[in-house]
Amino acid sequence: MNLLLLGRGKTGSLVAEVAADRKHGIRVAGAKENAACAALTTERLRDIDVVIDFTAPHCILANIEACVQAGKNMVVGTTGWYCEIDRIRALVERHGTGFVYSPNFSIGVNLFLDVARAAAAALRHDYSGQIIERHHVHKKDAPSGTAIAIQRVIRESSGRGEHIEITSFREGDVVGLHEIVLESSADRIYLCHDAKSRRGFAEGAVRAAEWLAGKKGFYDFKDVWREL
Ligand SMILES: NC(=O)c1ccc[n+]([C@@H]2O[C@H](COP(=O)([O-])OP(=O)(O)OC[C@H]3O[C@@H](n4cnc5c(N)ncnc54)[C@H](OP(=O)(O)O)[C@@H]3O)[C@@H](O)[C@H]2O)c1
Repeated sequence: MNLLLLGRGKTGSLVAEVAADRKHGIRVAGAKENAACAALTTERLRDIDVVIDFTAPHCILANIEACVQAGKNMVVGTTGWYCEIDRIRALVERHGTGFVYSPNFSIGVNLFLDVARAAAAALRHDYSGQIIERHHVHKKDAPSGTAIAIQRVIRESSGRGEHIEITSFREGDVVGLHEIVLESSADRIYLCHDAKSRRGFAEGAVRAAEWLAGKKGFYDFKDVWREL
């Protein structure tokens, strides 16, 4: 495929590496080349099969709008725009393009959500639950989007109304560590996902782009990763 990658930051640079390893053609546009969406005109996008975005909340909506209006399929890893999700879904459907998004493109984390779903049964058997997440000191948001997703699946799967507590730590250069602790008077269950590098996000995003090629529709990666 011919991919256009928006953003050559910490995650984008790995996406470029993975795409090249998987034999895709890859063009990259950072903040300078893509000022005011200059890299996203119909002409510039002519040969592109899928656009992958790992940029920033301030520009993501403009990037999405330009790509969708040009009729291009998109994989979006950038977070911080989900309050506009209904409008973007409608835009994608109106233009008949394909779109996959996720706050976490790691296959391991999506598998961990399934583990959390199964473990949530403990809350119906006198266990209490807690989520602990650790990330690098530069991370701006807390709790992490992934911790919130874990909290949500545990609540939905346990059938209990209340959310279990999340405790966040920001330290050193931790890529992303999420723990679930389930505790009864008799024992304690620990579940842990520890990201060793950002490469898992990059691999998931490139594989999502491969899956999306030639498809239409608006997809959350958590509903797609099993098909990769
Ligand atoms: N879904 C996932 O699996 C996942 C995983 C990790 C991160 N993320 C999210 O992905 C985003 C990027 O994370 P990161 O850690 O890679 O951040 P980062 O290192 O700060 O990189 C962001 C890059 O975006 C570029 N950029 C800014 N405005 C742009 C524009 N208008 N057009 C093109 N590029 C532009 C910047 O380019 P310059 O350097 O040229 O200024 C910068 O290199 C964040 O929203 C983060 O939460 C998602």
